[in-house]
Amino acid sequence: MSVQRKRILVTGGAGFIGSHLCERLLVDGHEVICMDNYFTGSKSNVIHLLDNPYFELVRHDVTEPYYAEVDQIYNLACPASPIHYQYNAIKTIKTSVMGAINMLGLAKRVKARILQASTSEVYGDPMVHPQFESYWGNVNPIGIRSCYDEGKRCAETLFMDYHRQNNLDVKIIRIFNTYGPRMNKHDGRVVSNFIVQALEGKDITIYGDGSQTRSFQYVDDLVEGMIRMMNSEEGFVGPINIGNPGEFTMLQLAQQILEMTGSSSKIQYLPLPTDDPKQRQPNIELAEKMLDWRPTVELTQGLSNTIEYFKKIIS
Ligand SMILES: NC(=O)c1ccc[n+]([C@@H]2O[C@H](COP(=O)([O-])OP(=O)(O)OC[C@H]3O[C@@H](n4cnc5c(N)ncnc54)[C@H](O)[C@@H]3O)[C@@H](O)[C@H]2O)c1
Repeated sequence: MSVQRKRILVTGGAGFIGSHLCERLLVDGHEVICMDNYFTGSKSNVIHLLDNPYFELVRHDVTEPYYAEVDQIYNLACPASPIHYQYNAIKTIKTSVMGAINMLGLAKRVKARILQASTSEVYGDPMVHPQFESYWGNVNPIGIRSCYDEGKRCAETLFMDYHRQNNLDVKIIRIFNTYGPRMNKHDGRVVSNFIVQALEGKDITIYGDGSQTRSFQYVDDLVEGMIRMMNSEEGFVGPINIGNPGEFTMLQLAQQILEMTGSSSKIQYLPLPTDDPKQRQPNIELAEKMLDWRPTVELTQGLSNTIEYFKKIIS
């Protein structure tokens, strides 16, 4: 084997992104401990990995301390969709903050390298477009999204403080909207929402007039970026944007999905929720320069894979 086998902990490993990451790390020849409390993730996302002797599934809540001898930690545990993170806002912020403290403590103890899955939400409703990593954001500290946005911002602070104070080997990535197979059917995120509505012949619900834009990256591109960041040169901490700069309006996305599914669903316009950012697009120059990374999967290809997945679980 060309790579040196590492022992890698993935928190939130039974979630959408985590399950793809675990899968890829095993393919790359590593040993993986997948830790999850199954709040939004599920065993079914990793069931195909259970026969692999290098894969270990652990039911554990990241807000409680956890001990394991590992070389690397990917900290993904946290509900990511507004429906789920607002369900128990206090638990969400605890997961981000106490989860970060527990995992940083573990990394310090066993001298592991640790990567934080942060988010473009740290930019809030940005006044700068597209967003560079040096932009500090425009975030409401007391709104209904704050449990997630501020929790993730505080986790970034903790990562930086452990790095400065304890010389911990940390990495921070800011993930922009990601989609792909194994997204939770009920989480209300736009790509899965539109696909499920189209496949079930229900109205496609657009919040606002549909002119707000988002950029969508396919999960395989993200996983490649995460692994490159984790294995980047020591001392390069980030934060680094990992996302696809290709921008689409919600209306364009809905129309594309209607066309690809051949659905006769109609578009229904609903009021825009509070604090919904109007525009979000990553600047990825830093990732291109430092990681030689850029997204490669076209929206049509990614959507086609995702539509196939949802066809299977809906039928
Ligand atoms: N999907 C995106 O577009 C996106 C964008 C930015 C950042 N992220 C970040 O990436 C990570 C993974 O997101 P995802 O889209 O796969 O979401 P997800 O909800 O599918 O995955 C999160 C996983 O964490 C687990 N979890 C939640 N609370 C936990 C706790 N207290 N202890 C242990 N496990 C817990 C859930 O059960 C789930 O398996 C999250 O940290 C999220 O904030 C995702």
